[in-house]
Amino acid sequence: MVSRARFLGTGMAVPDRVVTNDDLSGRMETTDEWIRTRTGIEERRWVTEGETGAELALAASRQALAMASLQPSAIDAIVYATSTPDHFAPGNGVFLQRMLGADPIPALDIRTQCSGFIYALSVADAWIRAGSYRTVLVVGAEVQSTGMDVTTRGRNTAVIFADGAGAAVLGPSDDPDRGILAIDLHSDGTHAEKLWVDAPGSMYHPRVSEAQLREGRHFLAMDGKEVFRHAVARMPESVRAALAAAGAAPADLSLLIPHQANLRISEMVQRNLGLDNGQVYNNIQRYGNTTAATIPIALDECVRADRIRPGDLIALTAFGSGFLWGSAAVRW
Ligand code: UT7
Repeated sequence: MVSRARFLGTGMAVPDRVVTNDDLSGRMETTDEWIRTRTGIEERRWVTEGETGAELALAASRQALAMASLQPSAIDAIVYATSTPDHFAPGNGVFLQRMLGADPIPALDIRTQCSGFIYALSVADAWIRAGSYRTVLVVGAEVQSTGMDVTTRGRNTAVIFADGAGAAVLGPSDDPDRGILAIDLHSDGTHAEKLWVDAPGSMYHPRVSEAQLREGRHFLAMDGKEVFRHAVARMPESVRAALAAAGAAPADLSLLIPHQANLRISEMVQRNLGLDNGQVYNNIQRYGNTTAATIPIALDECVRADRIRPGDLIALTAFGSGFLWGSAAVRW
């Protein structure tokens, strides 16, 4: 019989360095008041020089393995979601495999930005249900701070994006009713340039030029209003689709973990789905938007705080650069 994939352990790690809104207002024209009221963010974590995304992923993965009572040698595959790999190539999966001292198992990088963790889960889920790999380490990790323009020119992104890592170990469920019930995934590339990093890119000779650096085309650029408008419509739609595929409805949810893009977006998603405050988890106040890492970081906090208990129906949803979006319905 085909087994569902279920979560065996979760973990998270963020850099020690706390960057407050006041720290940013000392470097660009912004205020603590603007950032709090427009985004909900109070502080975020940024790496210090030399600290890498793979190191954050390693710390998060070790916690997830410890919760699952597993050694790295028990992992059969790694799926690593990041839009900010340490290097252009190879991806971060192999650096994590090496640092963990894991066997020469498959290591797959997923580049679907904010939706990275949902896409990564869908791969792990399919591998586990197909019997291809039994124990899969899924990571969402980002270092966004090194791609921020910390001058007034970059203030609409620099105050939002941040660094962190979350991880989960998945394996086959012995209970047919528990585990990942359904996943809903989408893309719409007509909006690709609304949240993107133009350079370096292989279409340029050389891949990045001094002119591009001067123009700041290597920084993350965002049309915030457009992203916002689509996010608040697509996330609830996708949550409903994932829940419907699982034979459930929003009212059945114990907890929704939305991608932490902006507190106002999460609140609008909550209202659209008719959920109360106790049914939605937000931690953007403390961590900002860590792209592929927001959902696994939040998941780990909820699991450790007993906000998620065995048997709970939870939903995860994300929307971002691509545009790409999706949701997962999970019976914990
Ligand atoms: O991870 C998934 C992808 N990301 C998102 O989902 C983020 C989606 N978008 C947003 O969260 C919001 O659009 C922002 C928070 C980025 C911006 O909020 P907004 O209410 O849409 O503001 P806006 O971009 O329309 O800008 C309003 C004003 C502008 O000034 P003018 O042109 O009205 O004079 C901006 O220049 O606010 C200005 N502004 C700022 N002011 C102070 C933009 N960023 C800042 C800032 N501090 N950091």
